Amino acid sequence: MRLSRRRFLFLVFAVALLHSSLRASATHLKPEVIGPLGQRLLEDAKAPEFFNWVRNIRRKIHEYPELGFQEYKTSEVIRAELDKLGVEYTWPVAETGVVATIGSGEQPFFALRADMDALPIQELVDWDHRSKIAGKMHACGHDSHVAMLLGAARLLQARRHELKGTVKLVFQPGEEGFAGAYHMLKHSALDNIKAAFALHVYPSYPVGVVASRPGPVLAGAGRFTATIKGTGGHAATPQLSKDPILAASMAVVALQQIVSRETDPLESRVVTIGYIIGGKADNVIPESVKIGGTYRSLSSQGLVDTKERIKQVIETQAGVHRCEAELDFMDETPLPYPVTENDEGLYEHAKTVAEIILGKPNMQVLPVTMGGEDFSFFTQKMPAVMFVIGSNNKTQTPPEHLHSPYFVIDEEALPIGAAFHAAVAISYLDRHGGGGVIERDEL
Ligand SMILES: *[C@@H]1O[C@H](CO)[C@@H](O)[C@H](O)[C@H]1NC(C)=O
Repeated sequence: MRLSRRRFLFLVFAVALLHSSLRASATHLKPEVIGPLGQRLLEDAKAPEFFNWVRNIRRKIHEYPELGFQEYKTSEVIRAELDKLGVEYTWPVAETGVVATIGSGEQPFFALRADMDALPIQELVDWDHRSKIAGKMHACGHDSHVAMLLGAARLLQARRHELKGTVKLVFQPGEEGFAGAYHMLKHSALDNIKAAFALHVYPSYPVGVVASRPGPVLAGAGRFTATIKGTGGHAATPQLSKDPILAASMAVVALQQIVSRETDPLESRVVTIGYIIGGKADNVIPESVKIGGTYRSLSSQGLVDTKERIKQVIETQAGVHRCEAELDFMDETPLPYPVTENDEGLYEHAKTVAEIILGKPNMQVLPVTMGGEDFSFFTQKMPAVMFVIGSNNKTQTPPEHLHSPYFVIDEEALPIGAAFHAAVAISYLDRHGGGGVIERDEL
């Protein structure tokens, strides 16, 4: 077919116009749709039967905390609930992990993620559902994360025929230092996911509030140990020894300069030594001393630079004192965590959803902290965003923070979290799903 130049230009113009209007309708979040949907999701999740169900799941998991990559019972509870809901899943993914699938089975795939592991902490809260396992506790709220995600599964399953794509519910092991997210992401069950969302309970905000921010929100974090070797001997003849206690002490002091003297004061980094192990007797110079710690930064380059300098400083200080240092940065296991960097577009999306369904004043700006989080492996690989959800329990003022043996939540946060998860996923699929051209173009 031959086209005249005018006709050709007209055709190009028409196609461009059609494309941009499709694009606009596909990317626009409609308050008139998400508003009523959000209200229904909240009502459903807050209904007494639903609330009791989600709360019981949380309590059950709270009573039987399991550490990273040992979440066998927790994984069993999750699968039993998914079975009851008639939701399909892949298991095991990275030992204890579960990836459930709800929706059309077609792209786009949107992931909602919850971590499952507890901490090696003895619970000191006196309540009916306290941990039944000595020395282990859900002090970081991962029991609540699992419950909220199962709540979302139930809400989504009831609407599965309306989903314009597929929601992947990711229950992952080993967030507390085991890089569980990294190991999950290697599995084919998480292939081709377009974007991911996660929620973390947060006792500094009241129930009903959520918070986040675009860009870096949590630090990248690595660990290290250094074994400083000298020559042991009698305390009375130091000239015959090479004292690793002194070398280690000087190294610890010298490490403080990395942040205070070598880092731009407007940049955030941390170097902390968490332990020094060495020597047994007051009249003996030991053979060696072991120190260990963590280094953190809000930028990948900051992490690389800090690590390099830690090595140089410790080795050099050891050398000054005629000792030798052996560094281990544990680059294989456990992996260092990258910076958690919230995607701007996805942040705007979830923020708008929060403002519509929870009210504008209940969407707040989360301050950056130097904590680490393995959801960072998601943020490295795809547009991903992490929000916190207010869980302040009014019986506790001021609130004990995450990882405290007195950590508590307000369980009224659970249905809100379930509804928020579901609303973010449904609206994401509404915006990005259901159109071949748009999907390929945008994602
Ligand atoms: C507040 O915390 C205590 C202790 O965990 C618990 O017994 C109580 O149920 C909590 N309140 C709510 C509303 O969840």
